[in-house]
Amino acid sequence: MDAIDPHQSNSPSRPQILHSKARREKPSEYPERYPVSDKQVSWDIKYPDYCPPYYVSPIVLANDCTRNPNGWADPEDIALLPIVPQESFEGKLNHDEAGRPLNPKGRTGIIGRGLLGKWGPNYAADPIITRINRTSEALEMLAIQRKDNGQWAIPGGMVDKGEEVSRTLTRELQEETGVTLNMEQGKMIYQGYVDDPRNTDHAWMETTAKHLHLPVELSEKMNLLAGDDARAVRWLPLMQKSICGLYASHCSLIIKTLSEMVRNNPFALSCDELRTIASLLHSFDNERVP
Ligand code: BGC
Repeated sequence: MDAIDPHQSNSPSRPQILHSKARREKPSEYPERYPVSDKQVSWDIKYPDYCPPYYVSPIVLANDCTRNPNGWADPEDIALLPIVPQESFEGKLNHDEAGRPLNPKGRTGIIGRGLLGKWGPNYAADPIITRINRTSEALEMLAIQRKDNGQWAIPGGMVDKGEEVSRTLTRELQEETGVTLNMEQGKMIYQGYVDDPRNTDHAWMETTAKHLHLPVELSEKMNLLAGDDARAVRWLPLMQKSICGLYASHCSLIIKTLSEMVRNNPFALSCDELRTIASLLHSFDNERVP
């Protein structure tokens, strides 16, 4: 489950991403997560029996950049890391007695890096592209179906070493959907921790999500072509059901996008269009968003 928690939110423009997929879900190759209840999440709460399994994927080990010149992963021995991350989008990080960065949202029930290459924050970028369908008048988003788990998702991906995040947004969009847009002009939606099933106590996802809303004429001229991590690409009509079924924290990111559209109307939509989006947003009121 992944949701914007209104009770935890410290600012209307910064939704708190709940830390629950990272405790209750996992890729199939991970061992079972050690149980962590809501009350046991925080590192400030003592949990003397906490004995999570260690897991690092063989894929991550094979991509150790100190052994493999084309590798994208940190060395397994953290002592070989020239700089251990001291901060992330979430602020200053804490470390355990072995010097490993600790998940800023708390315990996950697994230690080691799992499928993530970096100790600490692993940075992604999520380009959110929307349009209003001429015939149905529904709001749609450019979505990919992920090869790894078949879920529909924002066409995001990992920031390469030394890459500017706006470049990653543009590049991932191009690689996964075939669409070329300059994401530097996108409106910032979110930057921070992401509740992802791959997260562990020592490695987790953080993302930068930016939004562009396209005029329908422009969107109709674009040729969609699934590539890279995408099995398929389409304009996905946004309804409560399709939004709730999106990958990882993408549901929260889309709800945040809808509320920005209604609140600030950054793309100068008409009153009718805004009403459509407001009523979609309204369908999430009083709901615990999965
Ligand atoms: C995906 C992003 C997602 C991130 C965190 C990456 O693998 O490509 O879209 O936001 O993981 O879940």
